[in-house]
Amino acid sequence: MGDTVTFTDDRTGKSVTVPVEADNTIPSSALRQLDPDLRVYDPAFFSTASCTSAVTHVDGDAGILRYRGYPIEELAERSDYLEVALLLLTGELPGAEALQRWRQEITVHTYVHENVKHFMQQFHHDAHPMGMLVSTVAALSTFYPDAKDIFDEDVRHKQIVRLIAKMPTLAAFAHRYSVGMPFVYPDNSLDYTTNFLSMMWKVAEPRYDAHPVLSRALDVLFVLHADHEQNCSTTAMRTVGSAHADPYSATAAAAAALYGPRHGGANEAVIHMLEGIATPAGVPAFIERVKRGEGRLMGFGHRVYKNYDPRARIIKRTADEVFAVVGSNPLLDVALALEEVALGDDYFTERQLYPNVDFYSGLIYQAMGFPLEMFTVLFAIPRTAGWLAHWVELLGDRDQRIARPRQRYIGPGERHYPELAERPGP
Ligand code: ACO
Repeated sequence: MGDTVTFTDDRTGKSVTVPVEADNTIPSSALRQLDPDLRVYDPAFFSTASCTSAVTHVDGDAGILRYRGYPIEELAERSDYLEVALLLLTGELPGAEALQRWRQEITVHTYVHENVKHFMQQFHHDAHPMGMLVSTVAALSTFYPDAKDIFDEDVRHKQIVRLIAKMPTLAAFAHRYSVGMPFVYPDNSLDYTTNFLSMMWKVAEPRYDAHPVLSRALDVLFVLHADHEQNCSTTAMRTVGSAHADPYSATAAAAAALYGPRHGGANEAVIHMLEGIATPAGVPAFIERVKRGEGRLMGFGHRVYKNYDPRARIIKRTADEVFAVVGSNPLLDVALALEEVALGDDYFTERQLYPNVDFYSGLIYQAMGFPLEMFTVLFAIPRTAGWLAHWVELLGDRDQRIARPRQRYIGPGERHYPELAERPGP
């Protein structure tokens, strides 16, 4: 028995045998050989590999996440977000000189054009910061028309630097606007996350010095969120990128996908759930409701991880470090009780439901003072590196053509335009 799969079309008796690749993949061209009009109906890409990628490897059964081959545990422990961003983009960890140059490039591109600031000041007073971010990232394409030259490597690099550098500035501006505070300009003497915290929280002091533990904790969270292979937003990035849109427009599309509560909004839902349970004593009753199908245990379960999400383990450690500085989040006790009860309950273990990355991240963000509306924005900042890594990979991939899925048409057959008086209905 070889590593092949044979498809037989019982309507015609025709068979096609194709080799199964080492990664358990077969080309869809096999089906086209059988019948050029045969379609695979796979609306949520359950069995469809939409691209080849060398960026991130996830093994859900084994609880493995690696960026360019490096385990997430090692990167979270020993690297930092900007180094990881360069790793994702280039495929290799940089040498000392290249890393220094990259940090410097990012640092000197943190400012935004004054008109970007004016643009953001035109939003409604209670605009959601994520809506502001999505729109402003799209607007950046009008400030950098050269970005359309996507096959010029230098031009491309410049836009990548701009996007990664400006994302924290736009995120902090969106927050400051939503709370009626003046914008704080970047302080280029600070590192990436410390600078972001300064733009978020600085009031009248000449220099905002974030607590190094909090700065580092945010950096670890940025490393954990930097990429997660072909999720919904990355797929949006690749789809828009496949039309050769400029990177600002494609990143705005990806961020718009992330804005959806099924994707980037789960950590916010975890906080609402914990607030609803209120105390550890409320946990057993809540678990019983979930088991009766009345709602879900938010922050549990994952489409890919059917084992512990490796990011959740690191986040739990980070949470302890943050709480040691800012004081514990009162909801932590509820979360811990919930985790303990769920992990000891057959309903959850039989369905392979374990804490995911969102179970503890919201608690950390909340303890650090971030409002709930900023949670998805905090996800979008680091994910920008992942989106761009996939965009660069896509542009260099000769197999990739414009993304154009097929559909199952279920609408009416041909019919003819009736006069207004002949139409049914009011
Ligand atoms: N609480 C209770 N039951 C659950 C949960 C949950 N969180 N997640 C899945 N189940 C149950 C389902 O009811 C189903 O049970 P059944 O077989 O008796 O019908 C079974 O487990 C399988 O669930 P599916 O919905 O088929 O699993 P899927 O892979 O489609 O969903 C998802 C994954 C969306 C993450 C789901 O687990 C969920 O809704 N979790 C809560 C939301 C969440 O935390 N999302 C963040 C994901 S991480 C991220 O996006 C960054």
